[in-house]
Amino acid sequence: MELNITCIPGDGIGPEIVAEAKKVLDVIANQYGHDIHYTDILMGGASIDVHGVPLTEEAIATAKSADAVLMGSIGGDTTTSPWYKLAPNLRPEAGLLAIRKALNLFANLRPAILYSDLRGACPLKEEISAAGFDMMIMRELTGGLYFGERSTTEENGVRKAVDTLVYDENEIRRIAVKGFDIAMKRRKKVTSVDKANVLDSSRLWRNVVEEVAKDYPEVTLEHMLVDNCAMQLVKDPAQFDVILTENMFGDILSDEASMVTGSIGMLASASLNDTKFGLYEPSHGSAPDIAGKDVANPIATVLSAAMMLRYSFDLDREADAVENAVKQVLKEGYRTVDIMSEGCKQVGCRQMGDLLAERIR
Ligand code: IPM
Ligand code: MG
Repeated sequence: MELNITCIPGDGIGPEIVAEAKKVLDVIANQYGHDIHYTDILMGGASIDVHGVPLTEEAIATAKSADAVLMGSIGGDTTTSPWYKLAPNLRPEAGLLAIRKALNLFANLRPAILYSDLRGACPLKEEISAAGFDMMIMRELTGGLYFGERSTTEENGVRKAVDTLVYDENEIRRIAVKGFDIAMKRRKKVTSVDKANVLDSSRLWRNVVEEVAKDYPEVTLEHMLVDNCAMQLVKDPAQFDVILTENMFGDILSDEASMVTGSIGMLASASLNDTKFGLYEPSHGSAPDIAGKDVANPIATVLSAAMMLRYSFDLDREADAVENAVKQVLKEGYRTVDIMSEGCKQVGCRQMGDLLAERIR
């Protein structure tokens, strides 16, 4: 099969971790008889430095012409980097929002898994972590507060800022359908998270999710208020299978969920549109403090590449091979510093990539 992949190495540790994911993908291509063509584009600070903007039209066009996009991370230190002296719409993060919108990537899948070999990293009490957990956060990614109208004004010497939270039923329905589809391939439970006791957008969200649920009689649907969900994630994370929620809530809850795994360096993500196209990136940020030191954990990016094989190319066997290589390396006791524990063997970013590549079969 021919795989045309646009890569966004980005900023901070981005280039290092993308290099390791490519290393693993190249071994997959070799062993399973595929042809991969990579084209790099600039985004975030890397693009600002060259073009003065965080994402160019040409870069968007290149990404659109590919089958999938593999991304590292973007952004720098918000207090010291000159990128953050620019107007908000010219900062690195604006590039990420722009590519999500331009490619219509409305469905963000963020798996949060407690790996059995990393159970010790979970910050929760042992009686909770012992149950393990494996949830998929489905976050709406192109609507809500992130893309509603906003303004900052001054009236009679009083500064005022407005952000608007807008959803129409079609935007809710398409993410709900994806959520239920994914639940069908998992443990068949959807927890739809909203703030329906306060927000109109949440009441519409709840109604539309109920309508979609009628087409999925095998799936158990429950509704949960977002504040309660924040609590339940630390009290009893094992109760969750698919968490379906809007953009802002999903941003916050997915960070919380990743933290309870204790190893954000392990968590992949996929952002999909309504075709097979997707953008795949680790859930963590660009970690500028450790960039270029060969200590970053490339596993989240490697697992994002596995999601790409699965969701954009339907290459399940290949995706399994990558995920098994990760489990194998962990079982053998190799760790990058972020997930290091006593008695394990500490390795750098490149060596972790080599170990993973060697274990592909
Ligand atoms: C994320 C990030 C982004 C978001 C930022 C960088 C704009 O936090 O992908 O979760 O808020 O969506
Ligand atoms: Mg976030």
